[in-house]
Amino acid sequence: MTKLEGMRACVFDAYGTLFDVHGPLRKLGPEIGPKAEEISRLWRQKQLEYTWLRSLMGVHADFWHVTGDALDYALEAHGVTETGLRDELMTLYLKLEAYPEVKEALQAVKAKSQRTAILSNGSPSMLDTAVRSAGLDRLFDMVLSVEDVGIYKPSRRVYRHAMQKLQIHDVASVCFVSANSWDAQAAAQFGFQAVRVDRFGLKDDRIPGKPRVVIKDLSELAGLI
Ligand code: 2OP
Repeated sequence: MTKLEGMRACVFDAYGTLFDVHGPLRKLGPEIGPKAEEISRLWRQKQLEYTWLRSLMGVHADFWHVTGDALDYALEAHGVTETGLRDELMTLYLKLEAYPEVKEALQAVKAKSQRTAILSNGSPSMLDTAVRSAGLDRLFDMVLSVEDVGIYKPSRRVYRHAMQKLQIHDVASVCFVSANSWDAQAAAQFGFQAVRVDRFGLKDDRIPGKPRVVIKDLSELAGLI
C-alpha cells in the first residue's frame, strides 16, 4: 500500500471532494423532472469552464457569481424559466451536504497530527456557510479561498497561496486531496503529494501531473499518512 511520508498538512478541495454538488438538483428533481440530472451536470461543467475562462481572460468574478451564471446557462439550455427555482437551487448550493464519510475521515486525518485546510474556488462566505452547515468547522485549521489570490485553480498562484498561509516551504510535504482530476493533477504538477478521490470510476485527465494515489473515497485517506 502506498504511504505518503513526511506530510505536514492535508489540503482539501471543497466542491465535489467534501461536498456533493449534485444535491440541490437531486432534492428538487421531482419538481423538475427527468432533465434534472442533465441540468446538474451542465451546471457543474459550465461553472468550472467559467472559472477557467475568466482566469484566462483576466476578468475575475467570485465563485458565487460564476455559479449563478452557470446555473442560468444550464436552466436556459433546458428551457427552465421559473425564477423561483433558480433562487431555490442557489440557496441549496450554499448548504451542500458533505459526502457521508467526510466527517469521520477528517477526524482520522487529524488524529494523525496533520494540519488540515480547505483550498477552494469558493468565496469565503460560501465556504464558511458550507463548512458550518455540514458541521465540519472544528475539523479545519484553515479555510482558504482563491478570492485572496484573484484567480481560479489550477493557477499555480493558488497552490502557492496555500503554502504561504500554512508556512510550509517544502512543497512535497503537503498532501493535496481532490476529486476533481484536473485539480489533483495540477496540484501534483505543482509538487504536492496529490491524492485523487475517484468516486465515479473516472480516468486521469490527459494533462501533466500524476496523483500519487487514487482512492475511492476519503475513508482511505488516513491510512495513507
Ligand atoms: C473547488 O475549488 C474545484 O470546485 C472545486 O472547491
